[in-house]
Amino acid sequence: GNNDVTCQVMVLGSGPGGYTAAFRAADLGLKVVLVERYPTLGGVCLNVGCIPSKALLHTAKVITEAEETEHHGLSFGKPDIDLDKLRSWKANDVVGKLTGGLAQMAKARGVTVVSGTGQFTSPNQIAVTAADGKITLVGFDNAIIAAGSQATKFPGAPDDERIMDSTGALALADIPGRMLVIGGGIIGLEMGTVYDALGTKVSVVEFMDGLIPGADRDLIRPLQKRMEKRFESIMVSTKVSSLEAKADGIYVDFEGANAPKETQKYDRVLVSIGRRPNGKNIGAENAGVAVDERGFIAVDKQMRTNVPHIFAIGDIVGQPMLAHKATHEAKVAAEVIAGHKVEFVASVIPSVAYTDPEIAWVGLTETEAKTKGIDIEKASFPWAASGRALSIARTEGATKLIFDKETHRVIGAGIVGINAGELLAEAVLAIEMGADAHDLGLTIHAHPTLSETVCFAAELKEGTITDML
Ligand code: FAD
Ligand code: NAI
Repeated sequence: GNNDVTCQVMVLGSGPGGYTAAFRAADLGLKVVLVERYPTLGGVCLNVGCIPSKALLHTAKVITEAEETEHHGLSFGKPDIDLDKLRSWKANDVVGKLTGGLAQMAKARGVTVVSGTGQFTSPNQIAVTAADGKITLVGFDNAIIAAGSQATKFPGAPDDERIMDSTGALALADIPGRMLVIGGGIIGLEMGTVYDALGTKVSVVEFMDGLIPGADRDLIRPLQKRMEKRFESIMVSTKVSSLEAKADGIYVDFEGANAPKETQKYDRVLVSIGRRPNGKNIGAENAGVAVDERGFIAVDKQMRTNVPHIFAIGDIVGQPMLAHKATHEAKVAAEVIAGHKVEFVASVIPSVAYTDPEIAWVGLTETEAKTKGIDIEKASFPWAASGRALSIARTEGATKLIFDKETHRVIGAGIVGINAGELLAEAVLAIEMGADAHDLGLTIHAHPTLSETVCFAAELKEGTITDML
């Protein structure tokens, strides 16, 4: 037909979902075109999400740890922050290395990258419009939609660069004196942690009655306690009722349980109230792909949409909007197209908030068990009894395991504390392998490590614990 390029697999979007699908399909011998509107590959996660946020959170951790060593006899003084260097380290040494690496990997695999914004024109063709207006028509036998998501805007917020989404906050234009974070979810608390460490007075407003509503409250408590100490304020059960941009600041009114009575003035506002999928901006209707009213695309266990040769993966297919879910789905879609008999069968997907302390959870939560009336057993090991936690002066943690009451198998886990995200992996594996409390309690863990707390929690449940500390 009228195609400029043809391929067996067209992947729309080059985030963790898209690049993984493209690379896997190419490795399986398929001819692949990868379409991306931005100049670098990697999507939200590598360019303006997971990776730059973790770089800045590392900086934050170095600063706060240095601040808190005074009572063991060390003091470093106030940090001297060179924002230009910090930004350039994040952009060039971290993000740039990864996105550049992706471009090389695409080339090495023979994946053709077509730059521009893609809009389906039919079930077998997409038109890609480059920045200079040039249109490339890509014909395909199969497609994988991995167009991701974007930040939800605050309804009625004025158009002002001081009212930012996560991308604006990661750009780190300056260190504001006073900043309001709207939304006490993962993005709000991670970015709040960064700005607090850099010296900003941070306030968080959350309309639900607690921070990170999806996690168990016992995990949130140590984080909230620490944030209440460091931040200017944490206002739960409270809403922003108006936002006004004036020359000298953003004026904000609140209503609700913890609302300040007077109008507050902030130098910057971060809006982090969730993300919405990009399903409505890709011409899906021309390909016959069904998109719901919010922009999500429904798929089956093989990641197939209602159109049998068109697949969808990642944030655009629904919650949880996490990079490791997208990459896992990506492999399934590519393998199904290559003729493998596979499905998405992961039993659990871990969640981690890289705050200080970190919060990590997987599988059934206690709250869920309660609301669904599921009988469970649980064991929670307090880090105040861990020699390692004491020796690094971070005892405000806990490792909790949730067991099936009958089989004693691990069906959920929650960890709060430094490095909780790394520690969770053992529990995720335990759930996937059907391990029970014996399996974890009888596995010798190195001493003294924080990973021992997983073993200690299992021993607590078994009643065999003797070796506290
Ligand atoms: P995306 O990464 O959103 O990629 C979609 C790509 O498609 C984009 O590059 C976009 O430009 C392109 N695209 C869209 N439409 C078109 C079109 N019409 N034509 C051409 N190209 C198009 N997740 C974690 O697991 N861990 C974290 O620590 C974490 N931290 C985060 C921090 C922040 C600040 C944010 C915002 C998100 C974070 N996430 C994290 C979420 C994670 O970034 C997403 O889940 C992940 O990027 C989703 O991958 P994806 O492939 O579905 O889509
Ligand atoms: P979120 O859904 O995690 O949190 C949004 C919060 O804002 C919720 O607590 C919600 O109750 C609150 N909220 C919504 N509207 C509000 C309003 N008008 N006023 C006050 N509070 C309001 O969304 P967030 O933090 O924007 O992140 C989006 C997604 O990005 C996450 O859900 C996650 O999938 C992904 N992400 C993952 C990270 C990780 O894995 N470490 C890090 C950052 C983002």
